[in-house]
Parts: sequence; C-alpha cells; structure tokens
Amino acid sequence: MATLQLVSQGAEGRLFETTFLGKPCLKKERFKKAYRHPVLDEKLTNKRLTQECRSLSKCRSLGIRTPTVYYVDHKTNTIYMEYMKHTVVLKDFIDEHVARGERTILEDLCYNVGYTIGLLHNGDIIHGDLTTSNILVMKRIDKYDCVMIDFGLSINSSLVEDKGVDLYVLEKAFLSTHPNSQDLFDKILAGYCSVARAQKAVVTKLREVRLRGRKRSMVG
Ligand SMILES: Nc1ncnc2c1ncn2[C@@H]1O[C@H](COP(=O)(O)OP(=O)(O)O)[C@@H](O)[C@H]1O
Ligand SMILES: [Mg+2]
Repeated sequence: MATLQLVSQGAEGRLFETTFLGKPCLKKERFKKAYRHPVLDEKLTNKRLTQECRSLSKCRSLGIRTPTVYYVDHKTNTIYMEYMKHTVVLKDFIDEHVARGERTILEDLCYNVGYTIGLLHNGDIIHGDLTTSNILVMKRIDKYDCVMIDFGLSINSSLVEDKGVDLYVLEKAFLSTHPNSQDLFDKILAGYCSVARAQKAVVTKLREVRLRGRKRSMVG
C-alpha cells in the first residue's frame, strides 16, 4: 500500500499524493455531503467526476497539457491522475513574481494562459471554474507552460455566451486575488484573442456580462 500525503482538502473533496504502478499519482476523492439529499448528492458527485475525466482526456487530444487520468473509481468517486511534479499553482507563481517585480515573465506566462484557454474554447470546453488556483505552472527549459486542472464544473458548449462567462469568472477571480493586475489580465485576453475562434464576439460578450453581472446569464 502506497503512503498517502495530503495535498489539499477542499469543500468538495480531498487530494492525496501517492503512487500508481510506480508513478507519481494524485488521488482526488469527492466525498458525500451530508446536507444534500443522498440521491441528488450521488448524481451531482458522479456528474462532476465524469465531466472531470472527460475534459481532462479531451484536453490532451486538443494538445492542452493536463494530468493524465490513470484510473477512475465510480464507486468511491475517486480519480487517480498523474501528479504534476515541479509545478506551482499560478496564484503562488504570480504572488512570488509580483513581489520580485518580475513583470516580463508574468506577462509572457499570462499570454500563454490566455492562449491555452483559447484552445480549450476552440475545443468547446468551458472550464466553469477558471481561477489562478486551477492552473499549474510548469517550468520548461526556457519558458513556463501552464497545466489546466479541476474540470469538475466543466461543460461542453460552443456558445459565445458560455465562453464569455468563462472569461468573466476568471477576470473576477483574477482581479480580486491579484489586485492592480489589470495589465496581466489584458495579456490573458491578448493570448486568448490570438488563437480563439469568434474571439471578437466572445470579448464583446465578456463586456456585456461585466455590465450585467453573471447571474442573469445563468437563468437566461
Ligand atoms: N495533478 C496534480 N498534480 C499536482 N498538484 C495538483 C494536481 N491536481 C491538483 N493539484 C493541487 O491540488 C489543489 C486542488 O486540486 P483541484 O483539482 O483544484 O481540487 P479542488 O476541487 O479541491 O479545488 C490544486 O490547487 C493544486 O495545488
Ligand atoms: Mg481547484
């Protein structure tokens, strides 16, 4: 039995570092929520698990770096996936580099983040929970790459509305987590626009959602 090291404990589940057939593995387990109706809870948990696996795999076929899924246990709602060694969450990476005044590295990386989200959207994957904690940064020889994670709330959609809201969710999270970083978010948008299809319509939608807030979009 491999030893388990707790990586993170969230509201939805628990993550452990372990090994799978000798490889570094992350075990992501979603637990039952006592306050939810058991049948509804099981359905929701299973839907998130399924969506997470589906999107992680689809990303790889789109050339987007995500952890490889090793094994899925539907009985215990657990995914075993590649543990991304030598990565840091984008949030910590930004905080460290802002503190050191290293803006150029951050600007390049943010452009890359936007480009990657553009690839996601071109593949009609809406992440659903884009934050700087759901993107990992990996050092390459001469640059940094980003690895997308946490696809439990992702959906499949080609709608400009859904893509605009996805960017809006990121913008809100980004600017509240990293104050005075509008310039970095602009780089994300620039990277996005360099590759995403219908990018003008999506950015127009983003502006629209900014004005009205995201709530109405969810009922409309
Ligand atoms: N494959 C992975 N490799 C390394 N660290 C990971 C991996 N997946 C998640 N993490 C770490 O665990 C944290 C929580 O994972 P995440 O999938 O976002 O779960 P949650 O739904 O709890 O937010 C991430 O912010 C990251 O620090
Ligand atoms: Mg997360």
